[in-house]
Amino acid sequence: MTFDLNNLLRDNIKKLVPYSSARDEFKGEANTFLDANENSFGSPLTKWYNRYPDPLQLKVKEKLAGIKAVPVENIFLGNGSDECIDVLMRAFCEPGKDNILICPPTYGMYEVSAHINDVNIKKIPLTTAFQLNLPAIEEAIDDNTKIIFLCSPNNPTGNSLDRDDIEVILNNYSGIVVIDEAYINFSRFRSFTQELNDYPNLVILQTLSKAWGLAALRVGMAFASQDIIHVMNKIKPPYNINQASQELTLQALEEVGQVNDMIREIVAQRDLLAKDLLSIPFVKKIYPSDANFLLVQVTEPKAIYKYLLEKGIVVRDRSSVELCAGCLRITVGTPDENVAVVNALKNWKPA
Ligand SMILES: Cc1ncc(COP(=O)(O)O)c(C=O)c1O
Repeated sequence: MTFDLNNLLRDNIKKLVPYSSARDEFKGEANTFLDANENSFGSPLTKWYNRYPDPLQLKVKEKLAGIKAVPVENIFLGNGSDECIDVLMRAFCEPGKDNILICPPTYGMYEVSAHINDVNIKKIPLTTAFQLNLPAIEEAIDDNTKIIFLCSPNNPTGNSLDRDDIEVILNNYSGIVVIDEAYINFSRFRSFTQELNDYPNLVILQTLSKAWGLAALRVGMAFASQDIIHVMNKIKPPYNINQASQELTLQALEEVGQVNDMIREIVAQRDLLAKDLLSIPFVKKIYPSDANFLLVQVTEPKAIYKYLLEKGIVVRDRSSVELCAGCLRITVGTPDENVAVVNALKNWKPA
């Protein structure tokens, strides 16, 4: 079967006439804006935010296009990549009928977003090496499997999926393949963004919430064919990235050098933290990480989690997650934060 976008789209989305905002309809020079029922008197702030923002965030996309080497037409911006996940689900999955395929343990929002949209979920767990189980994935796919979500580097395991395995899926599956690269900046492996021309069914997700340090601004990216981006733009709320976020994002995107310095520092700290944690007797295993966190297997995860909380240190208890028995997920912090968590752990005593 070959990829056919029209076949994959829900009928209502194919027929959808998108909302046409005032700012969509007017393009050109003007100085009196009486088209959008805004407040022309201004805002109760020193800087005014009384005008609706650019619905397609062109300036931000132009800047991102340069940084990512992906044309503007192949970029969609979401209110966090969580919004991209939801928009994809609504574009392709018929509620109560279609399904997505995920490979747990993985990022939780694929499942939550599917539940919100009444989309069925096929779960094919990763192998014990946290890699894709290709035969089981092939077996599970049916005519209603519209999207496969792959997360690489994966959350919460931290490892990258084998590139060859991802390519097998891209080459043989005729639905949408989403590669969530939220943590790609911390990885030894390269992004799939330069492969977009080879795979019309590929959607890559990235975010400014991790390496770029802008989680509060809520800016996520989807890179895909122009046709897929066009559909996503039809579905999204008209002004999904607010003006303050667009302005601050533009400012931040000037600072690639500073972000690269932070990435280098975080990766160095990750390796140091792993080494320090391994010297603690009740730490059984640290999984290799291409991300900005470590999956750490300990003897008594629940007790240790609670103990750290009492010390004011919050980590993520993943011990109830499939294939993650005994595991805590610890984000790499500043040198001081990492020393604090290591010292606290060194003082922990089993009850
Ligand atoms: C794998 C993965 N994808 C996406 C997200 C969400 O990112 P955003 O802040 O862009 O919504 C996260 C956040 O933790 C994540 O771990």
